[in-house]
Amino acid sequence: MEKTLEIHEVMLRTLGKIADERSIELYAVGGWVRDYFMGREVHDIDCTVVGDSLNFAEIVAHYFSSKAVVYERFRTALVPVGDYKLEFVGTRKEEYLSHSRKPIVSEGTLEDDLRRRDFTINAMAVSLNSTSFGKLIDIFRGQEDLERKILRTPLDPMVTFSDDPLRMMRAARFAARLGFTLMPEIKEAMKQMADRITIISQERITDEFLKMLAAPKPSIGLITLYETGLLKYIFPEVDRLAGIDLVQIGEQEYAHKDVFYHTLQVLDNLAVVSDNLWLRFATLMHDIAKPKTKRFLQGIGWSFHGHEEIGARWQQSIFRRLKLPMENLPYVEKLVRLHQRPMILIDEEVTDSAVRRLAVAAGDALEDLFTLCRADITTKNPKRAEKYLRNYDVVFKKIMDVQERDQLRAFQSPVRGEEIMEFCNLQPSRTVGFIKNAIEEAILEGYIPNEYDAAKAYLIKYKDEWLAAAEQEIPKKSKI
Ligand code: CTP
Repeated sequence: MEKTLEIHEVMLRTLGKIADERSIELYAVGGWVRDYFMGREVHDIDCTVVGDSLNFAEIVAHYFSSKAVVYERFRTALVPVGDYKLEFVGTRKEEYLSHSRKPIVSEGTLEDDLRRRDFTINAMAVSLNSTSFGKLIDIFRGQEDLERKILRTPLDPMVTFSDDPLRMMRAARFAARLGFTLMPEIKEAMKQMADRITIISQERITDEFLKMLAAPKPSIGLITLYETGLLKYIFPEVDRLAGIDLVQIGEQEYAHKDVFYHTLQVLDNLAVVSDNLWLRFATLMHDIAKPKTKRFLQGIGWSFHGHEEIGARWQQSIFRRLKLPMENLPYVEKLVRLHQRPMILIDEEVTDSAVRRLAVAAGDALEDLFTLCRADITTKNPKRAEKYLRNYDVVFKKIMDVQERDQLRAFQSPVRGEEIMEFCNLQPSRTVGFIKNAIEEAILEGYIPNEYDAAKAYLIKYKDEWLAAAEQEIPKKSKI
């Protein structure tokens, strides 16, 4: 243990000395101890104070000329010191009674504090006081569980999860993040009390869900949530992806892929190459409307026609319900809506216009769209997988070629709205939009190049026709 403390020794010993001077027992606990044993250098240090933690946080803040951020409601305080975040909590007992959102809180010992934590690997403490500096307190054999790579609760899991049902999701997250196995009794308890997750606020659930999605192998967490029955409370649309339908025609049986497990495979593929959380979320969402659009067509087979558009339209209500940051909505909608489009462009005969339209529709998300498409290749046949990857490379190159020619990124009409208004003697109105749109369409269709002079000439040529047509409808595309 001493070796692992070396890097932070100055900080930890200083905290210990401040505590010594006030005859306060002080411990580093929880995630920090776990991460240290796992060889991770973490600058967020959780400390347990046997006594008044808020007062102690103020003393530490004063010592380092910092300021304590006090969370009175949770009786915790955060003190930023350089690149450290020191969090202080008192040794309290905290219990949630069934179906109550408010915990019952009382003073406790260090052991009370540790036993009310979520997992044994998070329930270890290291003494910071000078006389016992570096001494490990591991009442629940957390170190052994770290070595065995298992998740176990300090108490009966039903009790630990009743204290805070969010811990059931934390179990899924730690399993995904650390690759640890859940002890069978933990899974059993999760199955039995899955519905208790409904007492937890949406903000905490979403926060935990996103942390799980950010794990190296998110499928582990999602499978845990699915198998224990939690997923249907947390994310019913994802839960509904599971299952296979079979149609029997004569001797022949027709089954489709299990969309849940397919999605997880795509997500894991993507997680290998990208940490972009919203790309991961879009990947989880890409086939979300497949169950809704599923049809068996005689002579053709299973069809999910339109799932990408419906899936994209669902995103707004999903974002609202999960309280996800709305600024990421357009990006996720775009990727869900477009995820089939590169595949369609694989055809040799594809026109420049179709290529341009995809480039413009995807905009800045173009590369991420292709990352998603590549991750979506889940065939077990390596030759076929290679062929599909090559196909996407060809499509991507086509787009790059056309883009280079047209300079299409951040595309809009080279003749801008103000100039159209001035030239056509118009006030700001829908007609200006009609005309701008007509010019953009002409560029996308390849009638004129994406250049100012050509666009202006096109405007001059069709101005009168468009103005007349705009009275009743959107101007029709006109060939030059
Ligand atoms: N904890 C708990 N129950 C919770 C949340 C946290 O018992 N619902 C305890 C655990 O001992 C945990 C510590 O509080 O180690 C700190 O919590 P937190 O910072 O949320 O998690 P970490 O374990 O530090 O992991 P990470 O920072 O990666 O989220």
